[in-house]
Amino acid sequence: MTDPNLAIIILAAGQGTRMKSSLPKILHTIAGVPLVGHVLASAAALEPAHVVAVVRHERDRVVGVMSELLPGLLIVDQDDVPGTGRAVEQGLAALPEGFDGDVVIVSGDVPLLDSVTIAALLAEHRSTASTATLLSALLDDATGYGRVVRGADGGLDRIVEQKDATDDELTITEINSGTYVFGVGPLREQLALVGTDNAQKEKYLTDVLGLLKQAGSAVAAVPVSQPWLVAGVNDRIQLAEAALRLNDLIVRGHQRNGVSIVDPASTWIDLSVSIGEDAEILPNTQLKGATTIERDAIIGPDTTLVDCEVKQGATVKRTDATLAVIGAWSTVGPFAYLRPGTDLGAEGKIGTFVETKNAVIGAGSKVPHLSYVGDTTVGVGSNIGAGTITANYDGVNKHKTVVGSHVRTGSHNVFVAPVRIGDGAYSGAGTVIRKDVAPGALAINVAPQRNMAGWVEANRAGSAAAKAAAEASEETN
Ligand code: UD1
Ligand code: CA
Repeated sequence: MTDPNLAIIILAAGQGTRMKSSLPKILHTIAGVPLVGHVLASAAALEPAHVVAVVRHERDRVVGVMSELLPGLLIVDQDDVPGTGRAVEQGLAALPEGFDGDVVIVSGDVPLLDSVTIAALLAEHRSTASTATLLSALLDDATGYGRVVRGADGGLDRIVEQKDATDDELTITEINSGTYVFGVGPLREQLALVGTDNAQKEKYLTDVLGLLKQAGSAVAAVPVSQPWLVAGVNDRIQLAEAALRLNDLIVRGHQRNGVSIVDPASTWIDLSVSIGEDAEILPNTQLKGATTIERDAIIGPDTTLVDCEVKQGATVKRTDATLAVIGAWSTVGPFAYLRPGTDLGAEGKIGTFVETKNAVIGAGSKVPHLSYVGDTTVGVGSNIGAGTITANYDGVNKHKTVVGSHVRTGSHNVFVAPVRIGDGAYSGAGTVIRKDVAPGALAINVAPQRNMAGWVEANRAGSAAAKAAAEASEETN
């Protein structure tokens, strides 16, 4: 149910210079989702009537990603006046004229702040009929943050920024998280009064709290339960810390749902991944994107799956796979490379040192060893011999290989596409299959073997091979 009295403004105009990146800071990902995507998800979960994003730095790229993640998002471009106060002032202008509710303000670079925490802040704000409620945090090291200055009665007096603080104020360890709830009317009124007379020559949103307090309005700062919830990401160290924290939460979630995860520290799972009960994830495994893993599957160790579908009971060991479907009770690896379009049927096998691409391999069919299978379909119950290569590329175009059902091909074959091998056909070891093979036929094209007696003695006299050969023939004589 949409809350008609709730609007959310996401501050996302900042540069993020400390990332030292050509990618805008808030588009860096954790758990497969851009930082700002996590913020948008928390915002959307509160079901506000309006969500506004204030942008400036790399606005087109940022807006492209944000609008796709949250259709209906209102976009506001911040002008040349710097500061969070200016950002909010302009963000408010995007709200419909009649809007008279509460405005939640969050930062695009605080990804772990969940909707439950914001909802609790909003509930506190509303139940105490406050004009402004700020989420604070108690930190061991408050360096860099705005500090919460409380009066003799313990209530919030004002916020002072690090760069404007006195030595006394710098000892305060309660900080401003940058998350707030304001009544829209008072926020608008006070922002109009905020100037830029401070160390950074910016229009500070934080000045509104002091002004409201002086005007006799009810303002409060509420400490968050756990400081990491409001941790901002400003550099790559903090990016990795946030990613680690989120991964821990994701791993625990799956463990609670009945997934065995042997080594959480070396297991990385994107937010979008789903895993069934009694699946087992072994060390050094990364599960990314839209990957789904059904129950009883065993994944890892040393496996990376991107956008893969793993069906029930499959085993995938030491494998790198992207956009592959891995059938029920099939086995993959160790050391397999499954490229997009691989579709392995139930109880099939893609074995050791095998690469596949655009390869539909039917139920019970096996490619067990040292092969490349691309642009190929294989029927059911077939076996592709060790060391087989589909020569699918003539240097200009790609061609298809079609292998039927219950086929047995010999070791070290080359299938020169386009070529078809009929149902129940066989091929000999070392065959280069250039012509279609009819169902039930045996294909062979190797030259008969000739053994030239005495060749070594005639051509390599005195060598170790010649001596060994001579000794062997004495023994048999
Ligand atoms: C701000 C707060 C500080 C708080 C800290 C929490 C102010 C004046 N200070 O500090 O009290 O402890 O956040 O992290 O608000 N942004 C804009 N437009 C701007 C400037 C910033 O949209 O002109 C956005 C940024 O992209 C970011 C957020 O606002 O998402 C916070 O800005 P940032 O510069 O990171 O925060 P500080 O100024 O350090
Ligand atoms: Ca700043």
